[in-house]
Amino acid sequence: MRSMLNVALPKGRLGEKVYAMFEKAGFPCPSILENNRKLIFENEELGLRFFWAKPSDVPIYVERGVADIGVAGKDILLEYAPDVYELLDLGIGKCRMAVAAPEDFRDDPARTLRVATKFSRIARNYYEAMGREIDIIHLTGSIEIAPIIGLSDVIVDIVETGTTLRENHLEVRAEVVPISARLIANKAGYKFKGDLVDRITAGIAAQVNGN
Ligand code: PRP
Repeated sequence: MRSMLNVALPKGRLGEKVYAMFEKAGFPCPSILENNRKLIFENEELGLRFFWAKPSDVPIYVERGVADIGVAGKDILLEYAPDVYELLDLGIGKCRMAVAAPEDFRDDPARTLRVATKFSRIARNYYEAMGREIDIIHLTGSIEIAPIIGLSDVIVDIVETGTTLRENHLEVRAEVVPISARLIANKAGYKFKGDLVDRITAGIAAQVNGN
């Protein structure tokens, strides 16, 4: 039996867009479109195996080599810094990592800033680069609540449409980094399956420029 190329896709709306790009690039797996709760799908003819992973887990599968390639947000890649190749910016899943605060918050640079975030590494690097002392409060979701109820002064979080901030009377104070989905590859796997990975990358890249 020849070996399969394992592809980790982020479960959810972004993953569906990503799969459509694989399909358009000539690497389809029709069974994936069946409406069921299966997580693994194969196209034996092409030697491809797709699986749906929790988006933030995709780099773990790829770094450990059980997935040869995968798609993850730049936010996840910056936060977990997995030892993988970043092959391509897919130009989808675009949003930005930003610092946000209540509309009436006035910063006092002499005081330690309390920062609530899911992205502790990104926040630490950002403030370290400007020499600002901070106290990180690591949360796992609904970050916007923190400054409203007084747990933190600001948040470092993902802003897409800005609706969540607006509806909670928060505003962007600074941009940390723009985010989008990236195609990543396992380093050892790339040595053996590089040809196929390169063909997939080229087929997807051809769609990105048209975005
Ligand atoms: C993300 C992010 C913001 C929201 C931004 O949350 O953390 O809360 O989306 O989107 P918007 O600018 O379009 O309003 P997510 O839905 O991932 O849930 P979370 O609370 O678990 O972070």
